[in-house]
Amino acid sequence: MKTIIEPFRIKAVEPIKFTTASEREHILAEAGYNPFLIKAEDIIIDLLTDSGTSAMSAKQWAGIMDGDESYAGSRSFYRFEEMVKLITGMKYVIPTHQGRAAEKILFSIVGQDGKYIPNNTHFDTTRANIEFSGANAVDLLNEDGKRPEVIADFKGNMDVEKLREFIEATGVEHIPMVMITVTNNSGGGQPVSMQNVKDVRAVCDQYGLPLFIDACRFAENAYFIKKREQGYADRSILSICQEMFSYADGMTMSAKKDALVNIGGFLAMNNENLAMQCRNVLIVTEGFPTYGGLAGRDLEAIAQGLEEILDEDYLHYRIRSVEYLGDKLIEAGVPIMRPTGGHAIYLDAKNFCPHIPVEQYPGQSVAIALYQKGGVRACEIGSVMFGKYDENAQLVPAAMELVRLAIPRRVYTQSHIDYVAEVIIEIFQEREKLKGVKLTYEAPMLRHFTARFAFVD
Ligand code: F0G
Repeated sequence: MKTIIEPFRIKAVEPIKFTTASEREHILAEAGYNPFLIKAEDIIIDLLTDSGTSAMSAKQWAGIMDGDESYAGSRSFYRFEEMVKLITGMKYVIPTHQGRAAEKILFSIVGQDGKYIPNNTHFDTTRANIEFSGANAVDLLNEDGKRPEVIADFKGNMDVEKLREFIEATGVEHIPMVMITVTNNSGGGQPVSMQNVKDVRAVCDQYGLPLFIDACRFAENAYFIKKREQGYADRSILSICQEMFSYADGMTMSAKKDALVNIGGFLAMNNENLAMQCRNVLIVTEGFPTYGGLAGRDLEAIAQGLEEILDEDYLHYRIRSVEYLGDKLIEAGVPIMRPTGGHAIYLDAKNFCPHIPVEQYPGQSVAIALYQKGGVRACEIGSVMFGKYDENAQLVPAAMELVRLAIPRRVYTQSHIDYVAEVIIEIFQEREKLKGVKLTYEAPMLRHFTARFAFVD
């Protein structure tokens, strides 16, 4: 059967408030044409992020009631720890309030001036935490992964040759660890193959370096391995995850993605000494090691979410429904990053509206149009987010001008997705009407969150 059936029934609903085009015109102007500054209740379909936006299951909500709120030694911690150990095989499990808290703890210990940490592509918060520690974040993505039009199975792979060259050129003593992000969020939600993880492991072994996985979307990555990599078709998702983590020495995790919860994260690792140092920081910044910045009920919901994410019917629906939106757009000629990744569709704004120069932020213009036309909120991932200025105050644009439509887990149905496709296709058909924008306000750091814009005449 071609129809994708959501593998759940809906037990509780949240009403969506509809707005008219003229109301949205007014709301956009008030928000300085920045979707981040629009009130969530004025959004019809919110695709800003897949992080912390999942719908929890009845069993997760039951777990919320059942959570053990003991300060130390909570039963919910032990359930959570057991589940993380089952999936990852890691010896030490340290809960944090979200992914970046895990990163902050880890890099405050291993990162410092003069150190370098390679990754396929660091996510912004990972990069920010590494740089905040004084170390340097280095991206070593394979070449295919940088080209939106190239269709390949594992565009998230690290360039293993470049990794070896980088270690040789930098000196192994300046590299505390190597990381791999699965799936590669900043590169389009593209998966990393098991072979690539093994190859990176082999390089790490050669130089005696630990390997850490940024594991936010590990189950989506495992599903791609099952479907696309030889030898995995008959393996369970759990056993694929177990194999992947067996090649790693540690991991950071934002439970807000593939643990299907609204808040939470963790660190896990095999090195006892490092774990002890992490727990010492944890106690100062997050909390006692058996709750680490979370309530017992949150740990209960994460444990349950980690069990549910391994369900192949869920993962099939998840990956297929993102692909379904991608297929509709490709059919209508809309330029998107291909193939579709695990959690989001990325519109290629440079080719969507080639008449808008990068200095006038084509991605922002498309994101504005999505809200204006249909109340859909998406996120520019281009020169507004990553652009820098040179010494003459000229914009140094980002490598790509993308607009990310991230799909929350278990939240929207196929008709919501059909609506989103219709909105995008209508904008695309009238794309020559889109106008470029200029910044009227920008903060010195992470400007995309608070920037304000006006249309260029
Ligand atoms: N690593 C990756 C690959 C991520 O995508 C994120 C968050 C984090 C780390 C940080 O986790 O938000 O729990 O602190 N990504 C979100 C997004 C924000 O919209 O892609 P966090």
